[in-house]
Amino acid sequence: MGVNISGRSFLKLLDFTPAEITYLIDLSEDFKRLKRAGVAHRHLEGKNIVLLFEKTSTRTRCSFEVGAMDLGMGVTYLDPGSSQMGAKESIEDTARVLGRMYDGIEYRGFDQAIVEELASNAGVPVWNGLTTEFHPTQMIADMLTVRERFGRLEGLKLTFFGDARNNVANSLMVACAKLGMHFCACGPKENMPADELVTTCTKIAEQTGGSVTLTDSVAVGAQGANVLYTDIWVSMGEPAELWAERIRLLAPYQVNAAVMDQAAEDAIFMHCLPSFHDTKTTIGADIAKRFGIQEMEVSDEVFESSRSVVFDEAENRMHSIKAIMYATLK
Ligand code: CP
Ligand code: NVA
Repeated sequence: MGVNISGRSFLKLLDFTPAEITYLIDLSEDFKRLKRAGVAHRHLEGKNIVLLFEKTSTRTRCSFEVGAMDLGMGVTYLDPGSSQMGAKESIEDTARVLGRMYDGIEYRGFDQAIVEELASNAGVPVWNGLTTEFHPTQMIADMLTVRERFGRLEGLKLTFFGDARNNVANSLMVACAKLGMHFCACGPKENMPADELVTTCTKIAEQTGGSVTLTDSVAVGAQGANVLYTDIWVSMGEPAELWAERIRLLAPYQVNAAVMDQAAEDAIFMHCLPSFHDTKTTIGADIAKRFGIQEMEVSDEVFESSRSVVFDEAENRMHSIKAIMYATLK
């Protein structure tokens, strides 16, 4: 039976079967091919979408905008603080208003419960562009990027180093479990994913041939890893006061040349971006001044190396978000 997710929201990967996730990765690859060949694909002409951002973004916003425009759609962007949502209008009422005007709604912000509530009330597909708990659109791009490099997903070991209870790590654990991969969370015990999600993913992995491992040992995490993944140590929405503690806790889990050397011979480095791999940002420069470190979750050497696929990954955000919009709106 063919896969059909038309009319559905895209809130978290737990809501989707392995076949549906694979369909989205395949579709992303198809759209990438069309874009590269310069073949028009304005399949959703006449539709309009709205992007609600309560946190900042480069990749996700631009991917939704370019993806929508390539599909022939109109786009409205509402930046943090410029709509009535939250202060003067409830999530429920906002969803009911926007659902009357738009064919799809993207939300980036805080609790997963917010995007779930939007979806329950909008009457049109809602897409999660990142919440505190999950970052599901990132996963379709990431899995496409891994598959481009290895020609497969099943059986590969992906290790996430660092703040292993953040939205990206949580989503990677779900994605790997669903797709028969071996997921390893490598970080301090304080920063591990929630027990309930680990249990859920472990059960899913038992069905798909994958596995879930938690470790505080860099050697265990790196051993045989095909994909070494990391993310910033303090996520959006977390207080800046956390930097000192996170640097202390997570510095041993920096992905650097010594860690890459312990991984599989053909290992790649991935990062959702943005990344603190040098001091060319205001936060990076400030951290360097206060803590005397020039690079954080990844060394500049690894970030700039031929093993790093971070810009393929960033490009794939656009192809995959386009695929998600198309599959749910067609
Ligand atoms: N990876 C990612 O979501 O990037 P942005 O925050 O720039 O959207
Ligand atoms: N964990 C990061 C991901 C950014 C794409 C954050 O939430 O800020």
